[in-house]
Amino acid sequence: MIIDELRIIGSTQTNVVMSAELIRIAQRALKRRPPEPRKEGLGQLVYPFDPELARVAVTYLRTPTRVVWDVYRSKAGRLEPLYDELCADIAGDTRALWSDGDGISVEARRVDEFAAGERQVVGTVKNALIDGVARHGKKLHVDPERPTTRWVARLDENNEVLVSIDLGSGSLSARGWRREAGDAPLREHLAAVLLMLCRFDPRNEILVDPMCGSGTIPIEAIHMARATPRSVPTLAALGIAGAKPEPLYADAAPVVIGCDLDLEVLGAARDNARAAKVGEAITWQRTDIGELRPEMIGKIAVERGKAADAKGVLLCNPPYGERLAEQDLAVLYRVMAETCQRFRGWRAAFLVGNPILEQEFMRVLGKPRIKKPLANANLRAYFYMYDL
Ligand SMILES: C[S@@+](CC[C@H](N)C(=O)[O-])C[C@H]1O[C@@H](n2cnc3c(N)ncnc32)[C@H](O)[C@@H]1O
Repeated sequence: MIIDELRIIGSTQTNVVMSAELIRIAQRALKRRPPEPRKEGLGQLVYPFDPELARVAVTYLRTPTRVVWDVYRSKAGRLEPLYDELCADIAGDTRALWSDGDGISVEARRVDEFAAGERQVVGTVKNALIDGVARHGKKLHVDPERPTTRWVARLDENNEVLVSIDLGSGSLSARGWRREAGDAPLREHLAAVLLMLCRFDPRNEILVDPMCGSGTIPIEAIHMARATPRSVPTLAALGIAGAKPEPLYADAAPVVIGCDLDLEVLGAARDNARAAKVGEAITWQRTDIGELRPEMIGKIAVERGKAADAKGVLLCNPPYGERLAEQDLAVLYRVMAETCQRFRGWRAAFLVGNPILEQEFMRVLGKPRIKKPLANANLRAYFYMYDL
């Protein structure tokens, strides 16, 4: 069956955040609110396909991992009927999804429940595309390295095969700036999710990552505030590219500070920020979180043209215990809670996979305002937010 939907895919538990980010982006870029999406599972949103919405979604969104255009759906449970159905759909499709001579690549994801292996599904979809498009008198060829369009076959919630064009050509999480990873870097789209969850307001608030490692959160904070576009060649290939995209908030100049105990890691963060073209926008400071004080942040705020008593958010993903013994972690978390206590009127938010943080914070700061499950690279973790 020919279908026409825009699917935004992210980590589990991030539907609400992804939908909120799309509203922000669409209102600014298109001066309109997107329709209510259909939610599939805990990490996928589906909208009626709209080329303008698709363009701004894949160009500006930072919280999802993929943005795809769902174009065919099949109930076929075996390869032969899948091929036949896809071929017929493609032959009858009047959309400009290909041009003569295009290279394609096909990938299969989450097809374990299908009655054939992943490679067979890939081969079948690829053959159906090439043969179906041939009926339009056009030729496609396979080009895994530099495809014009990347196609994805996956099983949906009802075990139907969905065939989509991956508008961002792979994972959107890797932004391309990471040179040095540090110890346990946060995936970039998760940093964006954390920034949305803690409701960082770049116009009025300061953002401090007191344990910034390779700098993912500070770097994301600047790009999110500016709504920096990514270049998406697939849009031009599909004839849905608009004018050259510009940042939606080009003059955003938030105060963003990255601190870490480890000087070497801070050097890597600085290099990463330069590669991400936000080197000048972030202040880096070597500090033990136990020494962090509002006055220190106030001085930086003044240098950056903000009031010395401006408030904001402390946001980080602290170490959670792969290397530290439990009692050392408890000490570290206690110290973090005591530092937070000094930041009256701020918020503190953490992504952490160890319950000791909540226990230690309970003693000093009471209950979190928000506690939400949020996996970090397949590790069970929680997002916590405290009003200080
Ligand atoms: C899980 S990593 C943070 C990863 C980071 N978000 C990134 O994307 O690379 C935790 C960081 O906390 C830092 N750290 C550990 N103890 C610290 C302390 N007492 N004060 C400041 N930073 C500390 C480590 O050096 C490490 O870089």
